Amino acid sequence: MSQGRFIVFEGLDGSGKSTLIKALADLLEKESRAHIVTREPGGTKLGEKLRDVLLDRKLKGQISPRSELLLYEAARSEHVLQVLIPKKEQGFFILCDRYKDSSTAFQAYGRGLKIEDVEYLNNWATYNFNPDMVVFLNADLKEQQSSFSKRDSLDRIELEAHDFHERVQMGFLKMSQDKSWFELKAFSKPEEMAQKVWSKWKELGWI
Ligand code: TYD
Repeated sequence: MSQGRFIVFEGLDGSGKSTLIKALADLLEKESRAHIVTREPGGTKLGEKLRDVLLDRKLKGQISPRSELLLYEAARSEHVLQVLIPKKEQGFFILCDRYKDSSTAFQAYGRGLKIEDVEYLNNWATYNFNPDMVVFLNADLKEQQSSFSKRDSLDRIELEAHDFHERVQMGFLKMSQDKSWFELKAFSKPEEMAQKVWSKWKELGWI
């Protein structure tokens, strides 16, 4: 059995994570490598319900930062137990759209909760289960705003003011300097981005 790998994709909303994940899933499929694509909030029945609540535009102004964090952590905790740990143990390559660093970026840097509190809850909710690699799509805010303008509708978080997204971006940039993330320029060609990640996995002997 191949060794399981847990890969997380982080970045601003609208930075092209899902397109990159799809391109990598296609490459894994071609190699017949067991893999799953999952996301946060989501990935379980409870997580998908909580996602509906968290992204509901009608709840704008109705969820305080602490409740928001706890809801993301509840979804995450279920995801770790039901999906991430078992699939990794079964040798799957897990491609996960967002994980705990999103809470640090959005709820700590964005909403202003204390970083230590968010990190404590991140680790508590996940039993300290960590990714093998974080792929960070570095987009600038102008690119984000232009990708938002092409969408039919924005969710509760995307509707936040420009300065919220600026703080989130600052958080991601700070974390990418402090941690050893694999950084890519967002909005490059999806196949080119996928090839860069693929080469890195090859170099590491993961595929
Ligand atoms: P995502 O699926 O990336 O949204 P989209 O498909 O619009 O790119 O993430 C859902 C939203 O939830 C996104 O705005 C980021 C936010 N989020 C947090 O605020 N905290 C978290 O811990 C996570 C996982 C996501």
